[in-house]
Amino acid sequence: MRIRKAVFPVAGLGTRFLPATKASAKEMLPVVDKPLIQYAVQEAISAGAQELIFITGRSKNSIMDHFDKAYELEAELAARGKSKLLETVQDIVPPGVTCIFIRQAEALGLGHAVLQAWPAVGDEDFYVILADDLIDGRLQPCLSQMHRVYQQYGTSVLATQRVPQEETGSYGIVDAQPIGPGLSEIKKMVEKPKPENAPSNLAVVGRYILTPRIFKLLERTQRGAGGEIQLTDAISLMLNEQTVLAYEFEGVRHDCGSKLGYLRANVEFGLKHPELADDFRAYLHEMTAGWHDQDKKRKA
Ligand code: UTP
Repeated sequence: MRIRKAVFPVAGLGTRFLPATKASAKEMLPVVDKPLIQYAVQEAISAGAQELIFITGRSKNSIMDHFDKAYELEAELAARGKSKLLETVQDIVPPGVTCIFIRQAEALGLGHAVLQAWPAVGDEDFYVILADDLIDGRLQPCLSQMHRVYQQYGTSVLATQRVPQEETGSYGIVDAQPIGPGLSEIKKMVEKPKPENAPSNLAVVGRYILTPRIFKLLERTQRGAGGEIQLTDAISLMLNEQTVLAYEFEGVRHDCGSKLGYLRANVEFGLKHPELADDFRAYLHEMTAGWHDQDKKRKA
């Protein structure tokens, strides 16, 4: 059992990142030197995806360009003998991997975006990846961890993470029955519940393995929280028919849809970057030492 298709909903308005996202895509924001969408694509490819389906909207042309062949740039790099950079550019889409772009005419919600992928996904189980959740898997990328679970159970799997109770209003929250370490069967799901109404603090984050049944259910899903067609609501309907698992992945998630999460991701990835790590660490050291000195003076 393999999953070959990955859906990347990238048609959101990205209002939390305005004005940066006025004319360009949130998913093209770089973490150190790679756009968020490229991290997501690499994670999907390493989990076996060969067909990448992007659900795009207005101001998202740069995403299409990023995954297209750049003849002029490649010729220029080759002429200048910049073979390493040429390789970097050519490796963005490895051979055998294809990209499909589908336009979501109106940003009616994540559920509506996923529904647009139906003609391209057809009758297969598939991945959904939200590129603004950048996940640094501990030993394996998050999707590969989920794929292991999928191979064992052959059913839908959602990536989940414990969040502080006061933050439940920002997530889809599950009520789930444990069936193994880090794995539980979902009984109920609620989109963005207030902390006092949340059935738990186990939150769904931006990685899903779904069966194609979801499309029929999305067709029936009405606008929910925030006036949007929510993927969570369709998954809730699916719970009546199929097993859906909640998997607590091993790794660190950076919410790059928020400014603070995005800044943190840049610091953490910068500190791991082979060319920058040493200089960046030294710079942070110098800066934080300055803060300590100022603190001491203030307290003295
Ligand atoms: P978000 O809830 O992060 O919304 O969407 P957003 O519009 O991207 O950002 P903010 O909240 O306004 O700052 C979660 C994911 O669903 C996609 C987004 O691109 C993001 O990857 N999405 C959302 C769509 O593709 N279409 C939609 O109609 C809504």
